[in-house]
Amino acid sequence: MRVRCFMILLGSWTIVWLLFASNRTLFDIAKNNWRVYQSWRNNSATDSRLLSVYNGKGVALPFYNNNINPSKLFRIPGDYKIWTVNNSDVYCFVYVTKATNSWLLELIPKTWGSHCGHLEFICSYKFHENCTVPNGVIVQAKLVITREYDVIKKVFQYCYLHYIRKFKWFFRIKERAYVIMNNLIDVLAYVDYLQPRYLGHKFLEGSSFDANASYVLSQSGLRLLVESGHMNNNVAEYGFRSEGKVVGDWLNKSGVEFVDTVDAYGRETFHSEDMRSLLSLRHTDTRSVHPYRDGVCCSDYTVTFLAQSVRTYWENDALVRQIRVFGYQKPSYLASISNTTAVDTTPDVDDPMLTKTKNVKILCWILSMQKHFKVYKTVIDRTWAKRCDKFLVFVSNPVNKTANVIGLNITEGREHLTEKVYAAFKYCYDHYVDDYDWFLKADDDTFIIVENLRYFLAHQDPKLPVFFGYEFKPKWSQHSYMSGGSGYVLSKESLIKLVLIGITHPGLCPPKGGAEDVTIGHCLANIGVKSGHTSDVFHKETFIPLGFRYRLTHTPPWFMEYSVQPVSKSKTFSSRYSISFHYTAGLYINIYHTLLYGINPNKHNSVETKQFFKPYKANKT
Ligand SMILES: *[C@@H]1O[C@H](CO)[C@@H](O)[C@H](O)[C@H]1NC(C)=O
Ligand SMILES: *[C@@H]1O[C@H](CO)[C@@H](O)[C@H](O)[C@H]1NC(C)=O
Ligand SMILES: *[C@@H]1O[C@H](CO)[C@@H](O)[C@H](O)[C@H]1NC(C)=O
Ligand SMILES: *[C@@H]1O[C@H](CO)[C@@H](O)[C@H](O)[C@H]1NC(C)=O
Ligand SMILES: *[C@@H]1O[C@H](CO)[C@@H](O)[C@H](O)[C@H]1NC(C)=O
Ligand SMILES: *[C@@H]1O[C@H](CO)[C@@H](O)[C@H](O)[C@H]1NC(C)=O
Ligand SMILES: *[C@@H]1O[C@H](CO)[C@@H](O)[C@H](O)[C@H]1NC(C)=O
Ligand SMILES: *[C@@H]1O[C@H](CO)[C@@H](O)[C@H](O)[C@H]1NC(C)=O
Ligand SMILES: *[C@@H]1O[C@H](CO)[C@@H](O)[C@H](O)[C@H]1NC(C)=O
Repeated sequence: MRVRCFMILLGSWTIVWLLFASNRTLFDIAKNNWRVYQSWRNNSATDSRLLSVYNGKGVALPFYNNNINPSKLFRIPGDYKIWTVNNSDVYCFVYVTKATNSWLLELIPKTWGSHCGHLEFICSYKFHENCTVPNGVIVQAKLVITREYDVIKKVFQYCYLHYIRKFKWFFRIKERAYVIMNNLIDVLAYVDYLQPRYLGHKFLEGSSFDANASYVLSQSGLRLLVESGHMNNNVAEYGFRSEGKVVGDWLNKSGVEFVDTVDAYGRETFHSEDMRSLLSLRHTDTRSVHPYRDGVCCSDYTVTFLAQSVRTYWENDALVRQIRVFGYQKPSYLASISNTTAVDTTPDVDDPMLTKTKNVKILCWILSMQKHFKVYKTVIDRTWAKRCDKFLVFVSNPVNKTANVIGLNITEGREHLTEKVYAAFKYCYDHYVDDYDWFLKADDDTFIIVENLRYFLAHQDPKLPVFFGYEFKPKWSQHSYMSGGSGYVLSKESLIKLVLIGITHPGLCPPKGGAEDVTIGHCLANIGVKSGHTSDVFHKETFIPLGFRYRLTHTPPWFMEYSVQPVSKSKTFSSRYSISFHYTAGLYINIYHTLLYGINPNKHNSVETKQFFKPYKANKT
């Protein structure tokens, strides 16, 4: 009795000591890893990739037609080789419970799940209740207490039994994960499925990893895991430890090796958090082998992250799978070596329109406030602003003078918006009318895909008196107008008319008051500037005035009534070459940027036509 007590005492001290010692070591390793990546980044000539910015003139385009050595993409050690792999080689399984939201079961097969070789929801009898998932596969008999790894053991045995010969890769997906299958394929091409391997998000401690970020086993890995019998160890031995600890231990004992998929900038590919937390500047995590720091978050080949609501799920899906940046092709490191990997068969890189877009000269301006200035500097200025040929920020009274920040000397406040917009357009006219063809007005919570705006405008004639945006015409309004939040773009001719005729005739253009977008719309109509349509040839929207997240799940009745163009209630209402998104303040601009220019895969559903837009033709009447 006494001896045993002593042993227990000693045991707990040992654990405390071990905890402390390992804590220090782990912390130092994490710190050191971060230092290594910092200097890596400092020394890297292609550092600009971290912000993926180019100005649309084709000068800084290290993104395609490059010959990047594939070994530079991931730090997969040894003598890499490119293996043949495609989506049909991957078996995806999602373990679900009674608590799983039904929208997930509905959404997954409609979104990324359709890119799996085979997708299954696996559920178990839990707490005496039967699995009720439609098309779900039941893998085990009743268990009184179900620990996650009890279930996962059964799941692996099920996969082995049914699919070991059919698939090369086995993807264990957490139910809330959003998955980019085509990025996974690019990563898997570096790894031999006949070797016992697994890929995921590694923790520093022992063989544990972040199972919440999802993980992938090679065929040989699954075979060894099941056949070696290490899963049959008394599970009680593990107590209530996390799946990543237990499975990591099983895999290690079975001789299955972890493959690190961190990219050359130390950015992970498998993430267990949502984009908001991943990109917020506060994020730190010292548990990971490759810690997050300072908002440098995700590899361009990111495979998983969390999507916690229906809205963000659809929004992420649209930004990753549906919408493209015209002329932008993420480098395919594999294309030069193998013809079997995921590369768009009809990239618009060879579209003749691409040359034409380079001659479209756009001045973009936003109306902002002094208190939003930091957001502008840290987010807008680092993302879409750079892709305009000229970018101006108008505020009432700037505290700090910067070349492109202009004080309008007009009182702050909504009721002065109309005056400000006139003044800003007048400023553009006074200083830049000869230098640019198009003049875009947006807000500081608008995200613009400038390449797509260029693409659209390349079809249009700046000498026509026309302006483009999302057109509203409510019953109470005599003229139509463009919704203010998603912005609108005036041709050079329209700008000239607005400033020389409109602003000087208060009878045509009420000088102040009213809702800014309505007033400007009426003014332009009064001076003969026409409103042009911006939907693409498939009637899909390019200027998206309500919050994108919101529109994806909800179309308010007033919106249907106001819209001039037909309104689609489908989840794919946005054009492949969408242009503008309202309500993307601050962090969302960063998220849109990261998803569209970074994580968006280089393979997309092919489309039959390359003709997305038509030129505006003046109505003969
Ligand atoms: C482990 O490290 C963290 C961060 O340095 C520290 O806050 C914590 O107190 C440490 N835990 C132990 C047991 O030393
Ligand atoms: C990397 O560059 C930054 C800024 O220039 C500097 O503060 C930092 O010390 C550098 N880090 C390393 C490891 O060289
Ligand atoms: C994918 O690879 C399999 C063999 O692994 C092959 O049979 C199949 O035709 C390939 N599919 C595509 C679309 O390339
Ligand atoms: C679970 O399913 C089995 C077989 O279909 C059935 O016999 C049993 O009654 C079900 N149990 C519950 C709690 O629904
Ligand atoms: C995984 O997610 C669950 C649920 O959000 C959480 O309770 C758990 O701590 C997470 N595991 C790790 C290792 O972060
Ligand atoms: C298992 O873990 C030990 C200790 O961390 C390590 O030395 C060994 O290489 C691991 N085995 C595999 C197959 O990764
Ligand atoms: C890939 O396809 C191109 C053109 O179809 C061909 O010239 C090239 O040899 C192919 N490369 C390989 C590795 O098969
Ligand atoms: C203006 O500049 C001062 C001094 O350079 C700086 O401390 C302040 O943060 C700046 N204000 C804004 C809003 O950027
Ligand atoms: C606002 O006032 C300042 C100082 O009088 C002047 O320099 C600036 O040009 C004015 N801004 C506009 C848009 O007129």
